Amino acid sequence: MSGRPPSGGLRLGVNIDHVATIRNARGGEHPDPVKAALAAAEAAADGITAHLREDRRHITDCDIEQLMARLVIPLNLEMAATEEMLEIALRHRPHAACIVPEKREERTTEGGLDAAGQYDHLAPFVARLGEAGIRVSLFVEPDPRQIEAAMRLGAPVIELHTGRYAHLAGEAREAELRRIADAAALAAKNGIEPHAGHGLTFDNVVPVAAIPQLAELNIGHFLIGEAIFTGLDASVRRMRALMDEAR
Ligand code: PXP
Repeated sequence: MSGRPPSGGLRLGVNIDHVATIRNARGGEHPDPVKAALAAAEAAADGITAHLREDRRHITDCDIEQLMARLVIPLNLEMAATEEMLEIALRHRPHAACIVPEKREERTTEGGLDAAGQYDHLAPFVARLGEAGIRVSLFVEPDPRQIEAAMRLGAPVIELHTGRYAHLAGEAREAELRRIADAAALAAKNGIEPHAGHGLTFDNVVPVAAIPQLAELNIGHFLIGEAIFTGLDASVRRMRALMDEAR
């Protein structure tokens, strides 16, 4: 996404999937993820991220249509590399598309894409999205093999999976943070814009936000959960402030 230039050059993408999770628990229209996206934009979000999963467990096709029609900040569509999702992305032409691995049985996106092992499968998706003017990102583990594969695939952006970092503690967390920093530096050195996301919270975001090459963080579950206590505006603004302080 290329919304307003934030201080320190680090954009915040707010993932609104779990507003839809709550809505879908009762099958009605409330709470509306599009309304949440507009509120997040009003607060401090530079972009909105939404994952249209194959099983439509949270975001629906109608949500994507409404987001495209009503958002004034960029939409980053998270999608699996399937023909169905490609057709949807090409029809709506969001600002960006982040290709993620998707397993029906997982609770959330559990690991990064195997960009190296799935090169032949991914290449036409990266090419066709790119030709349509959509900024393609690959959601990968902070592993040099994956960055090198993203380079060969010609992806302009990678998003580094911070899930492991978020779940570790102590020395192990420090080591994972170094892997993320090294991966961000390797990507940037090779002309790929590095983003990061997954499992980020007020307590763990600062060391990640301090990695100078990172241009964007995508954060969802924690912000939506925190909004129950403080409201979405306050939760997004506090995250923005922590990110700014880290730069
Ligand atoms: N980035 C990607 C590619 C994701 O799949 C997700 C989860 O949907 C996120 C960021 C946000 O993760 P979280 O909801 O844990 O903040």
